[in-house]
Order: sequence, then C-alpha cells, then structure tokens
Amino acid sequence: MALADKDRIFTNLYGYQPWNLAAAQARGDWDNTKDLIARGRDAIIQEMKDSGLRGRGGAGFPTGMKWSFMPKESKDGRPSFLVINADESEPGSCKDREIIRHDPHKLIEGALVAGFAMGARAAYIYIRGEYIREAETLFAAVAEAYDAGLLGKNAAGSGYDFDVFVHRGAGAYICGEETAMIESLEGKKGQPRLKPPFPAGAGLYGCPTTVNNVESIAVAPTILRRGAGWFSSFGRENNKGTKLFQISGHVDKPCVVEEEMSIPFRELIEKHCGGIRGGWDNLLAVIPGGSSVPLVPAAEIMDAPMDFDGLRALGSGLGTAAIIVMDKSTDIVRAISRLSYFYKHESCGQCTPCREGTGWMWRVMERLRTGDADVEEIDMLFNVTKQVEGHTICALGDAAAWPIQGLIRHFRPEIERRIAARADVREAAE
Ligand code: NAI
Ligand code: SF4
Repeated sequence: MALADKDRIFTNLYGYQPWNLAAAQARGDWDNTKDLIARGRDAIIQEMKDSGLRGRGGAGFPTGMKWSFMPKESKDGRPSFLVINADESEPGSCKDREIIRHDPHKLIEGALVAGFAMGARAAYIYIRGEYIREAETLFAAVAEAYDAGLLGKNAAGSGYDFDVFVHRGAGAYICGEETAMIESLEGKKGQPRLKPPFPAGAGLYGCPTTVNNVESIAVAPTILRRGAGWFSSFGRENNKGTKLFQISGHVDKPCVVEEEMSIPFRELIEKHCGGIRGGWDNLLAVIPGGSSVPLVPAAEIMDAPMDFDGLRALGSGLGTAAIIVMDKSTDIVRAISRLSYFYKHESCGQCTPCREGTGWMWRVMERLRTGDADVEEIDMLFNVTKQVEGHTICALGDAAAWPIQGLIRHFRPEIERRIAARADVREAAE
C-alpha cells in the first residue's frame, strides 16, 4: 500500500514552499515544542521505542534504544552530546541534503527534542564539506531558531538550555563513520576508533554521545506529535514507518520520495519513477541501499519489499535506501570496479586489511574489467574479500568487499566471458 499525502512527514521535500521559520511553523514545525519536552525524558524515549524507528543512516539500529544508552545522570559533571551525522557521502544517497535544503527546521526541532530526551547539553551537526548551499541554509535556520528563542537558554520556553552548532566537514568520506566524525569534531584527523567503547559510553571529548543520522532526528517531532501507533502503522514488523527513498540511474524519472517502508520495488519504481528506462525487461540489476551493499539481479528484486529484512533476505541491505538502478546498457563489471576505486581512495589507511586490501581488490577488478586475468583469479578475489570483511576497524572494509562479492555471486558468467574474449583476442594477435 502506498503512502497518502496526509501521512508524509516531509511536506516540503521539493521546496515548493520556503524553508524559513515562518513557513516551517505554518507547516506545523515548532508547534508547542515545550509540551513535547514536558512529557519527560523517559516518556519520549519510550514513544520512540514504541514507534519502531530504526536508524536511517544505514545501519538500522533502533533509535529509541540508542537514546536510552545515554546516562540518566551526569558523571563527574561531564556533559553529554548529540552529534547529527549530515556527512551524507554514500554514493547514491541524497536524502539528508533535501531535508536540510527544504525542511531544516524539522532537523533543528528534532535536535532539541532528541537532545533533551538523552540529556545532551548541545548538538553538533556535522555537514559534509561539499554541501555548501545546504550549510548556508542550515546556519541561517539555526540563527533564526536562536533569534526566536527556540534554542539557547530556556529553549522554546521548555526550561531546558540547549545549543546547536553546525560544523562543516572537509570532504573525507570516512568522516561519516561515527567515531571518525567525533575525532574530526575534536580537531583531529578523521580516523575511526575501535568500538567498544561505543560513543554512548565515551564519545565526543570522552563524554557520553549519541550519533544519529539527519533523517532519524528530523522525523522525531512528528512521531511524538502523531504518536508511535501512527508511525508504526506503516511498514511491517521490525521494519516500521515511512522512509525517504532515493532512486537514481536508469529509471525514467529519478527522484527522492517519502514512501511507506516495505513497499515492493516494482511498485515504488512504477509509482514515482515512471518505470525502468526501456521497460522492465531492460532491467539488469539494482544496488538497493547505497554503494556499500551488494547488488541484486533484476529477477530477484522485482517483488522484494524495500526494507531491512526483505533486502537482507536477498543477501543485500536497505542501507540508506539509495537505490541505484542499472539497465542492460550498464557495464556491470566496470561499475563495480569504479566503486572499488572509490573505497580504495577513501580508506583512511589505518588498518592493513583495508589499506592494502582495497587497493589490491581494485587492481584485480580492473583486470577483470578488461579481461586481462586468469579465471582462477575470480575465486582468489572472492577469498580476499572474505579476508577483508569483518577484519577491519570500521565498516569501510565490509563496504569495499560486499559489492565485489555481489558481482561474483550474480555475474560470474559475464566475468568469465570477458576473460575468454580477451584470451581469444590475444591468441589471434600471436
Ligand atoms: P554499526 O552497526 O556498527 O552501528 C550502528 C549504531 O549503533 C552506531 O551508532 C553504534 O554506536 C550503535 N551501536 C551498535 N551496537 C551498540 C552497542 N552494543 N551499544 C551501544 N551502541 C551500539 O554501523 P555503523 O558503522 O555506524 O554504520 C554502518 C552503515 O552506515 C552501513 O551499513 C552503511 O549502510 C551506512 N553508511 C552510510 C553512509 C551515509 O552517507 N549515510 C556512508 C557510509 C555508510
Ligand atoms: Fe580506516 Fe579502512 Fe580501517 Fe576503516 S577499515 S579504519 S577506513 S583503514
């Protein structure tokens, strides 16, 4: 069942109205925020738990549970912090950008409510360096909120003091990893930390910290206003709510759209993208969750529910719900090789399997692309991905391994065909 307009959280996703405070208030944002806060920390966290919201940054960790990890009382006078991850860099992902461009007050109000619920003194919004106009909008929206008394001392008349700081990144993909982001905020080189300890125990400046994605925070005020029961009425068990899907590639109309979680792939594409370029028979494969998840071949994705469990059952994942559609004109080996180059380039170099493995995997991928390889190297490459997966400090190692695994699993005959074709050319030349 598709989402009705009345159930959309992001009512200004396409910027038909201004983003500013007056327009946001007319759309219902900042409406008696102090009443939401007056419900108390435990009640807010319970409502978020009951809503079934799972983190929208890619990992899908239950949001209410994450908030509940924060200490109830400050230890040794140390403050707690909320860090909002707006370093949206996953290839294919472009939803947080739309929220910040057109609905920044949903994010800022969400920061206050979430920050209060977890006892945070302040929120740091870490926005990717390339989002220049978006950062300008965000700075201006935060300034408006301060001017209107919605942030700062006695924020929104709630009796709670809360600050929001916007921090611009400098173009490193790895700074989207939560602990690398914390290092970067502290002024250090953006390199991930070993977990545990998780940020809830020791985060920014060693203080308890929760890192949440932009979308996860921006939906919180609406969930609290409309109720956990309303939000959890969408989707299915363990995969609740509405979700921003970002569809790019070979569809007739690429778009970002809010839809019901678990909507089948074909329905999503038909309804919002005008179908596949050249018709459904022309679909080759889909990367359903941003570049870090394995591709799914056309036949398997058609009726799949677009949610965490549905895509996991296909050996892939929902990730950020950035859906990259590839038709039969795609050079699939080249496409995955390009992703391998991306991960090699973005590896922070801190751990050996990732630093060495990403370069190694990319170089073999390039040979598979041109066909200048031995067939045995396909299995060898697969084995190398298994040596990288799960053996690194952060998820970038897995993210580099999984697309290659998906390619070999589903398109091995195409790789072998190239190797054979190249061998024929060489033979003919000799
Ligand atoms: P993760 O599964 O390690 O952690 C998810 C969250 O849950 C983290 O905030 C972590 O601190 C928390 N957590 C997990 N177990 C915990 C525990 N026992 N106690 C306390 N907190 C706990 O995943 P990670 O590394 O944060 O994210 C990986 C995902 O990020 C990938 O699946 C990918 O889809 C996505 N991603 C998104 C990007 C974007 O641009 N939005 C870019 C790159 C990756
Ligand atoms: Fe750095 Fe890669 Fe290790 Fe992550 S997995 S810490 S990006 S070297």
